Amino acid sequence: KSCVLAYSGGLDTSVILGWLQDQGYEVHCVYVDLGQPCEDRAAIEKKAHDCGAASYRLVDVREELCRDFAFPVLAWQAKYEQIYLLGTSIARPLISKVCLEVAREVGATAYAHGATGKGNDQCRFQLAAEALDPKVEMIAPWRIKEFREAFPGRTELIAYCENKNISVKASTAKPYSSDENVLHISYEAGQLEELDVNGVELVDFGMGVSPQEAPDKSESVTIGFEAGVPVTLNGQKVGALEMVESLNDIAGRNGVGRIDMVENRFVGMKSRGVYESPGMTVLYNALMNVEQLTMDRDLMHLRDRMAPEVAEMVYYGFWYAPKLDAMMAFIREAQKHTTGEVTLKLYKGNISVDSRSSKNSLYDEDIATMEGGGSYNQDDAEGFLRIQGLPCRVQGTVTPRKF
Ligand code: ARG
Ligand code: SIN
Repeated sequence: KSCVLAYSGGLDTSVILGWLQDQGYEVHCVYVDLGQPCEDRAAIEKKAHDCGAASYRLVDVREELCRDFAFPVLAWQAKYEQIYLLGTSIARPLISKVCLEVAREVGATAYAHGATGKGNDQCRFQLAAEALDPKVEMIAPWRIKEFREAFPGRTELIAYCENKNISVKASTAKPYSSDENVLHISYEAGQLEELDVNGVELVDFGMGVSPQEAPDKSESVTIGFEAGVPVTLNGQKVGALEMVESLNDIAGRNGVGRIDMVENRFVGMKSRGVYESPGMTVLYNALMNVEQLTMDRDLMHLRDRMAPEVAEMVYYGFWYAPKLDAMMAFIREAQKHTTGEVTLKLYKGNISVDSRSSKNSLYDEDIATMEGGGSYNQDDAEGFLRIQGLPCRVQGTVTPRKF
């Protein structure tokens, strides 16, 4: 029997790597490189070999993650429950895709991952994998009773590793767990489960400084979009990955993009999460400022009404789904005129707009001006409001409101 394992080098997936072998599997480890800012690639590879992996590979999908996964979600301005930029959610289907590609290559029929049975990640891994390969055998050890009984806590996981001479860095033990990629780092569990613990004070953030520590002077950044896709940074053409990485640096050093929330998981429970996504936070704001010039009003309002639906699908893990395919076709059409440039000022966690421009701008000073004249005829508003007000006048006559 042979399987691929989405391997992160952490305690859980290292134990799972050993346990799968105990179950008779030959295990091919896949470390999907999503631009994890703080992970030691060489140490992870060594650990996989030490733990008896039949093969190990690192697959670099950083560019693809930004270009084909994050940017389409950005074009939707999709945020889960108003504020979560979906950094983990977006990456999960791509991890499944990469693992299944490796499975095909090595002839494995099973796909294992370390997500628990209580979270969102199991949904995203599995829903994506089944859509791509309906025959795949999913192995989620945390959902297997025997595995949970063998490893009721961290102590047993560590003991198992020590027994097999697998190195466990106790120093990395933080009072919470994290998940990282180039889009963001998320922090959950441990002490963060207590809601009276201040999340942004507890967490040792990996992508930037706090607003308090940020410089006392604002920093400007200029971003150019083409059809809703960010393409230039301070006048230079850059690829998707470079765009996100550079903005992470710039926004990170200005304390931008930290949030603390209680969110509704797909499995039903509420959970508390702390997130930092400096670069993507700037991109959402920048794109919004260009859309304000270029996007038709009714189209924008329709997009804004549908965006929570997209966020929900991405959060739940329905990435490879006909509905999402159709939504993505819609947003490509909706964004086709969103070309332009915006300069933002970043200051101690805040973002403000400095200037914006677009060759497709629908903003017309001559129409909008509050000064006399201009091409807008105020007489026209007379009839417009007579018609708009008709239902209210009839209602107000038939059932007068008390006031
Ligand atoms: N709550 C976030 C989400 O559902 C982050 C999940 C983080 N996952 C993890 N294995 N630490 O997208
Ligand atoms: C997990 O349960 O594996 C992490 C948290 C989540 O998936 O929501």
